[in-house]
Amino acid sequence: MAKIIDGRKIAKELNESLKVEVEEFVKKNKLIPKLAAVIAGEDPASLFYVKMISRACEKVSIDFEKYSLSENTNEKEILKLIENLNKNKKISGIIVQVPLPKHINQERVQEAVSPSKDVDCFNPINMGRLALGKPEFLPCTPYAVYELIKRENIKVEGKHTVIVGRSSIVGKPMSLILLQKEPYANATLTVCHSRTNDLAYYTCQADILIVAVGIPKIIKKDMVKEGAVVIDVGTNEVEGKLVGDVAYEEVLDKVSVITPVPGGVGPITNIMLMKNTLKAAENLVNIE
Ligand SMILES: NC(=O)c1ccc[n+]([C@@H]2O[C@H](COP(=O)([O-])OP(=O)(O)OC[C@H]3O[C@@H](n4cnc5c(N)ncnc54)[C@H](OP(=O)(O)O)[C@@H]3O)[C@@H](O)[C@H]2O)c1
Repeated sequence: MAKIIDGRKIAKELNESLKVEVEEFVKKNKLIPKLAAVIAGEDPASLFYVKMISRACEKVSIDFEKYSLSENTNEKEILKLIENLNKNKKISGIIVQVPLPKHINQERVQEAVSPSKDVDCFNPINMGRLALGKPEFLPCTPYAVYELIKRENIKVEGKHTVIVGRSSIVGKPMSLILLQKEPYANATLTVCHSRTNDLAYYTCQADILIVAVGIPKIIKKDMVKEGAVVIDVGTNEVEGKLVGDVAYEEVLDKVSVITPVPGGVGPITNIMLMKNTLKAAENLVNIE
């Protein structure tokens, strides 16, 4: 029977230690880290997500402010707001909630966030730094997976890691993180995607299998290697219930370690945003 990783327990421990780090930072620098969230429109999922972020901030005593623009806002207005937030010394980190209204160029807006405040790591400069092995920030979801790998003492070096999914927010940066010459990285990697022929051929060779596709239970029992470590990033709603990309019940007695959905990677993700916000606050202090 596989070891089931308790993401909620890891999240609780991370929250407690981060709260202490924030307190020490505030004491030393007389500055409270602050996260700004820019949102345009009233999309319920976006509003819910921003509320979750505000709660995550509260838990670790990071200040939070929501900057709401109307659905009809124009690009000039949103770029002006970001310019002001970039200059504002009280703001440590900035996130732009996506999707933005269709008439706004999302990439241009994300690129406008100063790299030193880009806590979501969407700015190409920060992605470029990650690709060069000199990251400023790590994107939150793959960062959560990396943190989980470290905390669970999962040895990546010398093992074959297969990542299914190559999106810019999960799969691709995940591969870049695990390629770093760092402890718990140095991976030998295969990245699969929708154009991969015979997905099972690759997943069956994975000592460590990381899945971020968004298709419920796409990874079945006959697609995993005996004793593999399986990290399921997928979050899919099926008949009102959250399920992952891995057929969890099926693979439980075949793999050695697995993350459940819910309760695996998900709870850790927002804390990594908080960690990035504290790092951004430290950057701000060091620049001055
Ligand atoms: N836990 C968290 O905090 C968290 C955070 C973010 C996302 N997620 C979840 O993670 C999942 C992936 O998110 P995402 O944003 O990366 O999704 P995405 O942008 O839709 O990317 C999905 C990736 O899966 C690949 N793919 C699609 N069908 C495939 C197939 N049949 N075989 C192999 N690969 C296939 C796609 O390939 P192509 O590139 O060829 O299209 C793409 O690279 C979703 O369930 C999402 O909800 C969870």
